[in-house]
Amino acid sequence: KKVLFSGMQATGNLTLGNYLGALKNWVALSDEYECFYSVVDMHSITVRQEPATLRKRARALLTLYIAAGLDPEKNCIYYQSHVSGHAELTWILNCFTYMGELNRMTQFKDKSAKHADNINAGLFTYPVLMAADILLYQADVVPVGIDQMQHLELTRDIAERFNNIYGDVFTVPEPYIGKVGAKIMSLQDPAKKMSKSDENPNASIYLMDDPDTVMRKCKRAVTDSEAQILYRDEQPGVKNLIDIYSACTGKSPEEVVAEFDGKGYGVFKMAVGEAAVSVLKPLQDEVARLEKDKSYIDGVIKANAEKAQYFANKTLRKVQKKVGFPDKI
Ligand code: TYM
Repeated sequence: KKVLFSGMQATGNLTLGNYLGALKNWVALSDEYECFYSVVDMHSITVRQEPATLRKRARALLTLYIAAGLDPEKNCIYYQSHVSGHAELTWILNCFTYMGELNRMTQFKDKSAKHADNINAGLFTYPVLMAADILLYQADVVPVGIDQMQHLELTRDIAERFNNIYGDVFTVPEPYIGKVGAKIMSLQDPAKKMSKSDENPNASIYLMDDPDTVMRKCKRAVTDSEAQILYRDEQPGVKNLIDIYSACTGKSPEEVVAEFDGKGYGVFKMAVGEAAVSVLKPLQDEVARLEKDKSYIDGVIKANAEKAQYFANKTLRKVQKKVGFPDKI
């Protein structure tokens, strides 16, 4: 079986964008691949975190992976910080990554503008840790939203650079971007992506929003004065709502346009809200059910960390040997 790796940060409240752009595809691909799904808590501390909150959110995210339909018997669902190989490989890859490359990362530029008081080295080398995540498991495919594409290209460059020097050590991974939902935009500003760190709560549908909140946010979503439901760049707000509806229902954007031909924005927004609720409600119910079963989740955490560690060590030993670290005696 080919290998799939992906991860999410346990920072902030997850949005419908995270679900439609990533998690939903993870579930769809999970039968076809040997999968590693990580809660990337090491990435999270590149911005300040309250320890108790981070711990709580990491566990909630791991639970969400399972609630979304990933079977922890078949898929390796684990905390990044439980597998020391991520940090160890990161160090080595740091020595094969150029400052210039990291300087070009748009996410670094955005985040350092936002956290000007804490532009730490971890924030800068964040994409190297991401490369280590992926390369450690020899992943063939990495399902992500469009915003992670630049990091994935860097991962490929690092892998190829290393392979050119030492022979075929790493599998060079391919991105997997879903047909719809790969970039869900803010409901309040369709020029910006929907983000868990947006300060306006109306801009994002959070995965844990109750149905009334989802409906209200959809009703308030920014559209335009064209008064027609068409899938085109000139109407970014409407286009985004079509994307959401399409990703939630499985209908193509063309089918959605046909379905709402001649209908008003009010009717359409209600339908988008209902489609989102029909995806989120079962997810929320399943999270609530799983959260009660502490020992089951604990068991998943322990067993999967061991499994991940086993695969990670295989790659790590190989890499350590290649770069010339002495064998352990
Ligand atoms: P993160 O935690 O910001 O986002 C998790 C996933 O959600 C996708 N996503 C979106 N997709 C569509 N529309 C949106 N508005 C939207 N917002 C977020 C992201 O593209 C991502 O797939 N650095 C990564 C986490 C990471 C990772 C990895 C991913 C660490 N190591 C290795 C893949 C492989 C991140 O911060 O994603």
